[in-house]
Amino acid sequence: MAADRDTKLKIVAAGVLAPSADNSQPWKFSLSDRGVLIGADPARIGMFFDSALAATQMSLGAVCENMLLEAGRLNLGAQLRPLPAEPGQTLPTYALDLTDDPADRDPLADHIPARMTHRGLYRRRAMPDREALAAIAAALPDPLGCRLDWATGKDARQGLQRAVYLADLVRFTHPTIHRDFHDKLRFGHQAAATRDGLDAATLGIERLLLPILRLLRPWPLAKTLNGVGLKHIMAWRGGWLPMASAPALGVLTARADVGYFDMGRALERVWLAATRAGLAFQPLGALPLLLVRATRMGGEGLSGEHRHLLEQADQAWRQAVPHLPRGEQLVMIFRTGHAMALAPHSQRRPQASFLA
Ligand SMILES: Cc1cc2nc3c(=O)[nH]c(=O)nc-3n(C[C@H](O)[C@H](O)[C@H](O)COP(=O)(O)O)c2cc1C
Repeated sequence: MAADRDTKLKIVAAGVLAPSADNSQPWKFSLSDRGVLIGADPARIGMFFDSALAATQMSLGAVCENMLLEAGRLNLGAQLRPLPAEPGQTLPTYALDLTDDPADRDPLADHIPARMTHRGLYRRRAMPDREALAAIAAALPDPLGCRLDWATGKDARQGLQRAVYLADLVRFTHPTIHRDFHDKLRFGHQAAATRDGLDAATLGIERLLLPILRLLRPWPLAKTLNGVGLKHIMAWRGGWLPMASAPALGVLTARADVGYFDMGRALERVWLAATRAGLAFQPLGALPLLLVRATRMGGEGLSGEHRHLLEQADQAWRQAVPHLPRGEQLVMIFRTGHAMALAPHSQRRPQASFLA
């Protein structure tokens, strides 16, 4: 037997440090003879944002990438295989089989505990050095079918900012997204009590704005204030300003045939490589996830106005990336650089709550 129970639990612990949309941690694990089984937790999926379960699948990919890396760090070989879905199951379960043949140890494994979403402002003038940016792009192995472009020129940066701004306008004017977001927000002691969701302390916004955000929970109030410009303030402070403060904006894309699980593995590798280079990182997930809904789900649940905004956003990000291969899908726009201040880590639920 390649690994004992404690070793398997260490590998699960590295898995749950992965990112998930709104820190929903929608995963289940069980220990098997050969290793660990990993699947989605049906009780924790289904947000509007999670169009076609793309966010859940990306998160599962990131979890499995962490687990493969951790197995290598513990001198074990590891192989991942999808298991046939059982009746009524919407997503496959993945089996991580452990062996005594260690693969090459990947230095990214050492950076799993430090990886985090840094939502504060960055130092615009402190450009990461070329080697750091090259090392981040080099973290993508060919078989994942993803590529990374940096938006260097003024026009490309503005194009990405505009694309994210337009998607944020959809986000802040959609009643279901509004409800989901407020359901996931945790203020004060709630964060420690639930150990999931979005801890307001990790949002990277001015303290003064936190009680205001809390007051905006009722949709009729937010909707009325949107009519006098609130949505523009939210989109400006939510994505535009943080992007403007970042010296480097990246666009991660995938070939047309790549699935969300592999996209999540690629995103995690890029994120870990940025962490290894000492850089802060924030993904801007509203645009790619809403584009999944607009394109793959025929715009289900979106108004005509929302669809129009997303069409414009789709054009804007594509124009910002020169020489984009035909059919390339957007995985994630992200910003990276040196943060102005330290930020708190988000929490994870106790390990027992993930184990079947
Ligand atoms: C598919 C996906 C989309 C995400 N979108 C955003 C986003 O739009 N903005 C953001 O600040 N964080 C985003 N995140 C990061 C999560 O909110 C974050 O991983 C989670 O809160 C846990 O925090 P951590 O990354 O610091 O461990 C996204 C993560 C995933 C996997």
